[in-house]
Formats: sequence, C-alpha cells, structure tokens
Amino acid sequence: MRIVVSIGGSVLAPDLEADRVEAHAAVIDELADDGHEVAAVVGGGDVAREYIGTARDLGATEYDLDALGIDVTRLNARLLITALESSAIPEPAESHEAARASLRRGEVSVMGGTVPGHTTDAVSALLAEMVGADLLVYATSVPGVFSADPNADEDAERFDQLTAAELVDVISSIETSAGSNAPVDLLATKIIERSGIRTVVLDGNEPERVAAAVDGDDFDGTEVVPNE
Ligand code: UTP
Repeated sequence: MRIVVSIGGSVLAPDLEADRVEAHAAVIDELADDGHEVAAVVGGGDVAREYIGTARDLGATEYDLDALGIDVTRLNARLLITALESSAIPEPAESHEAARASLRRGEVSVMGGTVPGHTTDAVSALLAEMVGADLLVYATSVPGVFSADPNADEDAERFDQLTAAELVDVISSIETSAGSNAPVDLLATKIIERSGIRTVVLDGNEPERVAAAVDGDDFDGTEVVPNE
C-alpha cells in the first residue's frame, strides 16, 4: 500500500523525548519493512504555537508567522528522519514534488510544511492526493473525529465511520464554534472529499495504532470513506 501518515507535532514531540520519537519511527520502519511505500508529514505542535505567539507579540505579519511555523514543522521532520532506520530522505522534503520524487526513489519520504496559508493537515491531504495514496492516516492528539470538541464539550460523541461529505459538515460546524479545535482542518477535509481519499483519524499518542489501521485491525478511531 502507499500510505501518507500525518503526525501532529504535539504527538511526535510534545516535550522532546527520544523514546517517543523512536516509537513513531519504529512504526514507520515496520510499515516500510512490510513493503509499504510510506510518506510522513510532521506538524509543529506547541513549539510552533509558542514561536508564533511570541512573534505575533513582536508584530510579525501572518505570512511571517506561518513561515516560522513551517520552520518548526521542518525541525520536527528532521527529528523523525534522525530516528528512522529504514532508507529515508536525508533532509525534509520542502515541496510535494520533492516528497514524490523521494517516494519514487524507494525512500521513506518525510516533510513538514510547504508554504504559508495552510497547515500540515492540508499538506498531508495534498500529498495523498498527488501520489494516489491508498490510505491517509492522521495521528492526532484526539482519538478520532467527534461531534464537537471533546475537550470543550462533555456530550461530544465519536464517529466510528463518516463519509467524506459528512466529515466536511462535521468539521465545518466545529470550526465555526469559537475556540474549538478540530482534529483535521477544513481545507484538508475538502481535499479528502474531492479525491475520495480513504482516511483514518486516530490517537497518535499510541503510534502502533497507525500500523493497526494499515493492517485493517481495530485502531479505535474514525474511518472516513469516499462518498458513494
Ligand atoms: P501545524 O500543521 O502543526 O499546524 O503547523 P496546527 O494545525 O497549528 O497544529 P496542530 O495540528 O494543532 O498540532 C504549524 C503552523 O505552521 C504554519 C501554520 O502557521 C501552522 O499553524 N504552516 C504549516 C504553514 O503556514 N504552512 C504549512 O504548509 C504548514
């Protein structure tokens, strides 16, 4: 299978522990050893948010704040590359084209962000679209897609399965409620919908769930299926 794994920065490196990064790398190595083509996209997490918050106080433009965020995603991507044992791209890919070329060389491809104006959620969906991935996995800090932000609403319920159109609706209603945090952003959901990308959203704090999702085992998250 060709797989794109999107690993949130807060999942990969919430406090920069080697063991945690190694656990994520081990799952990617295992998938590559099993013959899958794997591309990882890494987010910036709280470190990116802290840099962005500080630079905002200093008066930076939104464009420059995004550029700072991209730098942090690439730092995290470099950390993941360091932990990988399989033959991986030596430096984070800086574009989708470079990530695709790396996959075609038979490497595990790793990238962070690309350009200002979106997040690595959209970068991952675009990469999955570009390379015709069989599966897109979002390893996030919440265990799936909920009817509302589970950290803000105790009545939030998790969906086991959604169509892509339902995903767009759910995420757009979460994103319109102030202060809410969607597990995948709206732009990413629209890319998933337009290309019918089979997608799962799961708790990345337990990296072996990624392997379970690929193997078709119970991964305890949300599966997004193409519209009929
Ligand atoms: P993330 O993808 O980690 O964003 O990129 P996020 O949604 O804030 O993180 P999570 O998913 O909640 O952990 C960090 C920041 O980097 C910039 C954006 O400012 C983003 O918020 N970025 C990232 C870009 O501008 N372009 C990219 O391609 C990627």
